[in-house]
Amino acid sequence: MMTLQTKALSRRAPVFYEERTESTNTDLKQLATEGAESGTVLIAGSQTEGRGRMGRSFCSPEGGLYLSLLLRFPEPDDRLLCSTAIAAIAAARVLEQKCGVSPEIKWPNDLLLNGKKLCGILTEAMSYSRDISIIIGIGLNLNTERFPKELSDICCSLYGETGEKTDLMEFAEALIAELDRCLQGLPEIDPALPAEYRRRCGTIGKQLKDGGTAMDTGEDFSLLVRLPDGTETRRYFGEIQTV
Ligand code: BTN
Repeated sequence: MMTLQTKALSRRAPVFYEERTESTNTDLKQLATEGAESGTVLIAGSQTEGRGRMGRSFCSPEGGLYLSLLLRFPEPDDRLLCSTAIAAIAAARVLEQKCGVSPEIKWPNDLLLNGKKLCGILTEAMSYSRDISIIIGIGLNLNTERFPKELSDICCSLYGETGEKTDLMEFAEALIAELDRCLQGLPEIDPALPAEYRRRCGTIGKQLKDGGTAMDTGEDFSLLVRLPDGTETRRYFGEIQTV
């Protein structure tokens, strides 16, 4: 594992790079148990056992960017649950500013480009006593040239959609800087973020496969759903499928 010299970043915590590993989330969890400081980042060029949400795997070939960020807090706070949604905003901003594309957020935290998944985020938390460590893992299909057949209808890469290759390390620096900016105040949340999330969220207005319509997202990034009988309910986590 090597430490990246990131000229563009003025931050205290280190950024580590590995060409290939099982999972950056798993490795960073290990570093956290060994005392890694809040803000530590681990990037990999590919993952052999990339992990996704709901126990799924995350296809992580060369060409993608696989990055995990560790945040530590002295005590639990419900607002920390918003860190995944905030990371999705940060990734969307960088894709927009550096690559000129506007991905939409699929609630709660996938980024879609032209209706296909470009980025996934897996946040994991661990706690030994009262303190809490959060690991935010982001996988972005930037220069990925091809996906296994079963994924090619649902996943896309920036390269596949635009024909342009991205400098992975430059992108990573911009993403880390944006994550630092967006997450530094936690557990306080910048009051402008829920509105930005709502603006970027493509799920609003869509019919859900299990019934109901996604109406809005809230100040806590939850999804307001109107059920067929007219009642409204909020979803705080999990997964949705749109029609
Ligand atoms: C999902 O879409 O289900 C979440 C995917 C999260 C993938 C990232 S890649 C970096 C980090 N390491 C992992 O093993 N998973 C996350």
